[in-house]
Amino acid sequence: MSTAPFSNSSQVPPFDLVVFGGTGDLAARKLFPALFQRCRRAQVPETSRIIGVSRRPLSNEAYQAFVRDAICDHVKDAASTPEALDRFLRRVSFCSVDATGEAGWPDLVQVLSQVPEHVRTFYFAVSPDLFAGISQRIRQFGLVTPDSHVVLEKPLGKDGESARAVNAAVGEVFQESQVFRIDHYLGKETVQNLMALRFANRMFEPLWNSTHIDHIQITVAEDLGVGERGGYYNTSGALRDMVQNHILQLLCLVAMEPPDEFEADAVRDEKLKVLKALKRIDERNVEQLTVRGQYRSGSSNGEPVPGYLQELGSDESNTETFVAIKAEIANWRWAGVPFYLRTGKRLAGRTSEIVINFRPISHSIFDATAGRISQNRLVIRLQPNEGMTLEIMIKDPGPGNIRLRRMPLDMSFAEAYGGANSPDAYERLLMDAIRGNQTLFMRHDEVAAAWRWIDPILAAWKNTSQRAQAYAAGTWGPSASVALIERDGRTWNEDAE
Ligand code: BG6
Repeated sequence: MSTAPFSNSSQVPPFDLVVFGGTGDLAARKLFPALFQRCRRAQVPETSRIIGVSRRPLSNEAYQAFVRDAICDHVKDAASTPEALDRFLRRVSFCSVDATGEAGWPDLVQVLSQVPEHVRTFYFAVSPDLFAGISQRIRQFGLVTPDSHVVLEKPLGKDGESARAVNAAVGEVFQESQVFRIDHYLGKETVQNLMALRFANRMFEPLWNSTHIDHIQITVAEDLGVGERGGYYNTSGALRDMVQNHILQLLCLVAMEPPDEFEADAVRDEKLKVLKALKRIDERNVEQLTVRGQYRSGSSNGEPVPGYLQELGSDESNTETFVAIKAEIANWRWAGVPFYLRTGKRLAGRTSEIVINFRPISHSIFDATAGRISQNRLVIRLQPNEGMTLEIMIKDPGPGNIRLRRMPLDMSFAEAYGGANSPDAYERLLMDAIRGNQTLFMRHDEVAAAWRWIDPILAAWKNTSQRAQAYAAGTWGPSASVALIERDGRTWNEDAE
């Protein structure tokens, strides 16, 4: 199995990709558009096949029409390359299978046995309740070859215990080296650039510690509400939906020690150490260190929008659509450096960023007329406008006394790459899963360690009388989130807002 670390764009080995949940939203919005793009860029060998699976009875033609529509809806210029689209669709077929019953499996066996030497990738784009049942059927029908992989979509459980059960059930059928747990944030261009920034440059790593860094902020803000996903979301909430996975993964990449090589287990060993070193938050400190909120009606992009309960069609729910947390990592490098984390739906904008705030200079040689010396900041923007800005102090140009001001050294990746859009995270992750490169996927012990930190927060919330605090749609969350950071004499990065 290949362990090549980089997500390169060379051709992957010929494969059969079986998508459980093949008529679902994720397949339509993300998987097929991503596969089409990779196909158009000649990364997918001609003989590779994509087999959509779901319970519905559909002919291959009807399924191809569904996939065609999905691609045209989600890939801007797909319709302008009809030949490429036809070529792609010729690789797509459909199998009607009862994922946990017996029906349809023999048909899938028949299709797959036509080319047993292909890399076989099973993609579970279904509810995690089905992971165990599908894995068992895959084994029962003898579908696991040495070159088989399984891709697990989040959520991986709703707490530590259920995640353990899912991992154990999948682990009875697939070895850990065959399991690819997706966190699509790890496939984002800037997230990987974070590793390049830290470990391919001399100048940042010596400063990357509590001696030089005052605090770190991680914000993942969305302007959309829960929309059609209310049913799932209401049982999840922002802590499980965004913090347990995406935000903790970002935190790990910012905080981990340099791995000795850029190889899957070396990277994941270091991330695991960070998760294990997170200071526990439980009923003793949950009210000081966390804030949860729920949006009410308000406006988004100038349009009036309903509140969470209205969208849900319910009178009552304490599910959080916003969370802010002051986290700390108890190790030598980070002792005393707070990591302020926040995420929410229906916020004032769609902004994801990591802000490294450096400590003030130790002594100023300038007098008061020079003005205030602001702290250096490094802003790493995940979306939109992926890029980085290093804010440094310079002298205002011109004669007279020195006056200082903070200026950005700004880099937009889109400009740096000559206007090219970076590929969607799923494009990279799908190719990596087929290739067998696990660097950008979570190992079972990482998932377990993340839940070990999250579970006591969930338990403490359950036991307090404090409810999720209201915030108007189109704002930056409840005022308590501002208070959380201002109590420490700091503010959220106002440029995001
Ligand atoms: C998903 C969450 O994992 O990530 C969604 O379940 C969220 O609730 C989404 O909207 C955000 O992803 P992105 O790539 O749009 O930032």
